[in-house]
Amino acid sequence: MALTEKYAAQIEKTFGKYPDKRSAVMPMLHLAQQEYGWVSPEGIQEVAELCDMDPTQVKSIAGFYTMYSERTKGKYWLQVCTDLACALCGADKFYEDLKAELNVDDGGTTEDGLFTVEHVMCLAACDKAPMLQCNFHFVEKLDMDKMRTHLDKWREESK
Ligand code: FES
Repeated sequence: MALTEKYAAQIEKTFGKYPDKRSAVMPMLHLAQQEYGWVSPEGIQEVAELCDMDPTQVKSIAGFYTMYSERTKGKYWLQVCTDLACALCGADKFYEDLKAELNVDDGGTTEDGLFTVEHVMCLAACDKAPMLQCNFHFVEKLDMDKMRTHLDKWREESK
């Protein structure tokens, strides 16, 4: 069990914050995602064993929240909000332009493995629309010019 071996102290500390192991399922899913880059079947199984839960329950929790990815993804995970406030500020067009810029479909990953792009529901930054989150960091008040600058920066960082 890779998580237990690698993160024993962190897991123990996390469990200490909760009344029972089941309550720690979300931080454990974060840990699995951090370790594997996505919530893999192996990660689901490990989290289920750690939290004394059925793997199906853990998988359903992982599937409910957009912060968990159930498939492999690029180094930069771009989640574009296309919900109402962002849509009113041009998110749909922005999302189409971004996919075209990166030559990917919804949920796709660029050939170089750098960017995965998907649309998500409201990320609670409606006053900064249109926006996305990149690896859980908000990037706000976007247009394609700003986005190209960010893409170039991330490409440079990954060299
Ligand atoms: S609608 Fe996009 S952040 Fe709320």
